[in-house]
Amino acid sequence: MNKCRWRRISRAFLLYALLLLVVSCRSWNLSLFERQAEAPPITADLNAIAMRSGHTEQTLKLGREVFSTRCTECHELRTIPDYSEEEWLYDYLPLMARRARLQPAEHGALKVYIRTVLRLKQQQMHP
Ligand code: HEC
Repeated sequence: MNKCRWRRISRAFLLYALLLLVVSCRSWNLSLFERQAEAPPITADLNAIAMRSGHTEQTLKLGREVFSTRCTECHELRTIPDYSEEEWLYDYLPLMARRARLQPAEHGALKVYIRTVLRLKQQQMHP
């Protein structure tokens, strides 16, 4: 009788431990997944907008590279259209470029990349 109850308790404990393991693995997986968000790729449309303002694909590429490597050192990749052009240019970029210790050319390219992504988003919303 006593032995039986002990078995029931240990089985409940085992189930509980298994449940905890599953839950913690799932949330770990989820955070891995969230971190995989990608910087907007350099498409023909993006390139066309940059070229119209006199910028080259090379600048866009450098900007994207900076954004996806240097701007993820302290936090996850930010979503560019989550912030307005004013917020990017006057608040976040000056502050974060300093935090990421960007060279002037890197800062300039990042600015071009972010502005171009914002323009493309505008174009897609109001064609
Ligand atoms: C040295 C660490 C560090 C680096 C590198 C860095 N950031 Fe940040 N960033 C932070 C911290 C910390 C915050 C949280 C808000 C604060 O304290 O200002 C933040 C907040 C932000 C925010 C505001 C998010 C919000 O809603 O609060 C944006 C946008 C941002 N970072 C973009 C960037 C970009 C773009 C780069 C690359 C140029 C970058 N960050 C590089 C540390 C960093």
